Amino acid sequence: MLIEKYADRIEKTFSKYPDKRSAVMPVLYIAQEEYGWLPDEAINEVADICDMDPTQVRSIAGFYTMYSEKPKGKYWLQVCTDLPCALRGADKFHKELKEYLGVEEGGTTDDGMFTVEHVMCLAACDKAPMLQCNFHYVENLDMDKMKALLDEWRAEAKEDK
Ligand code: FES
Repeated sequence: MLIEKYADRIEKTFSKYPDKRSAVMPVLYIAQEEYGWLPDEAINEVADICDMDPTQVRSIAGFYTMYSEKPKGKYWLQVCTDLPCALRGADKFHKELKEYLGVEEGGTTDDGMFTVEHVMCLAACDKAPMLQCNFHYVENLDMDKMKALLDEWRAEAKEDK
């Protein structure tokens, strides 16, 4: 249960907001960190913690691309394909990345390592093509750099085992 495992963090989060429901987004982050995504169980717990209806919590989780409503790979790659990035080749990069990994939009590689999806502006328009990997920015990409990074992340994941 989130409320037991993360009691201190949740209390600290609440102390920054006028009421519990205002803290729903940071509490959703805690839930996502715990579960890796936001299954119904997590949504219900967050709703309880923030004194909200689960439907309201689900609608917030569904609106923002930083919350995931389905399981993701170990590395969640969100490529910005918004117009300024598209003008710098982000669409082509996004397409080539999916082809290289053999996934469709929003899909995850068979080994569960990488999920690829496109997102709107991440405020790094001058550094496209760019993506965020588990919320860390990686900028000025091309497929050669990307392939090297994918190898690095695969090696890192092996070491974690
Ligand atoms: Fe891609 Fe702004 S349009 S970061």
